[in-house]
Amino acid sequence: MISEISAGTRICGLIGNPVEHSLSPAMHNAAFRKTGLDYMYLPFKVTENNLSGAIHGVRSLNFKGLNVTIPHKVAIIPFLDELEPMAEKIGAVNTIVNDNGYLKGYNTDAGGFIRSLTEKGIDPGGKNIVILGAGGASRAVSFTLAEQGADIVILNRRQEMSWAEELTQNILRFFKSSIKAKELNDANLKSVLKSADILVNATSVGMSPNIDQTLITGKLIRPQIVVFDIIYNPIKTRLLAEAEKAGARTIGGLNMLVWQGALSFKLWTGVEAPVDIMKKEAVNILSKTV
Ligand code: ATR
Repeated sequence: MISEISAGTRICGLIGNPVEHSLSPAMHNAAFRKTGLDYMYLPFKVTENNLSGAIHGVRSLNFKGLNVTIPHKVAIIPFLDELEPMAEKIGAVNTIVNDNGYLKGYNTDAGGFIRSLTEKGIDPGGKNIVILGAGGASRAVSFTLAEQGADIVILNRRQEMSWAEELTQNILRFFKSSIKAKELNDANLKSVLKSADILVNATSVGMSPNIDQTLITGKLIRPQIVVFDIIYNPIKTRLLAEAEKAGARTIGGLNMLVWQGALSFKLWTGVEAPVDIMKKEAVNILSKTV
């Protein structure tokens, strides 16, 4: 973002409901300032009823792109002209690029998750991975891990087992990965964690304000494991603190948040994102709100 807004300024934004607490405007505007690109990023609260109108607006006002968040990541798909293959498989879009009225949807949550692992030198290919939860966030994570050739177990609460089973069936339609769904209970946790290389929390358990909650305590965590919590608020969840104490390597959800933003930034601008600046901005805001 440059100081002067001009006729050439390209607009990007976020649509969702709610959007008030999103860190994306601050991260992207800091990145635009740093790179000197004539772009700006704004949050737009859009209800389900207004989704179609919002997309018409993007085309007619020639916005450069959007991030899409809850509750529109799935509902947005019929309004787009094309999907990248991963977004199509996952069935959810978090980024749209507008090429003069032609809208293409991407899922940078998936890529952002993988980049958070690979930037730390961790290749998920062939690794035993336990994923907690089978909701929207878990979908992006499990599809992309399956693409990377990981051996996956998804643990989910009993009443929603059909979700986890449907998710594994869906993944098996596309990837020849080893993937199973099990009930999230103490016995299953104990047994799968014995051979796990990476544990991913893709549930909302432990998210602010419920910062004392965790599905797993340190007793079950071996020091050889990598624990990835996709929650970014708080930056260090109770699960991550327990894992750290148990001697395990940890990765926080802030890395995934920043990388999904960085990948969206590259798609809109063609320029590599200043990842460190984006992270610093996000950490700044989060440390003020806690
Ligand atoms: P998101 O888009 O953030 O993934 P979601 O689609 O609502 O949100 O998914 C949340 C996941 O966290 C679900 O798998 C949910 O389990 P259920 O499907 O059984 O609801 C899981 N989850 C939330 N609270 C949980 C809890 N207290 N214990 C175990 N799993 C929980």
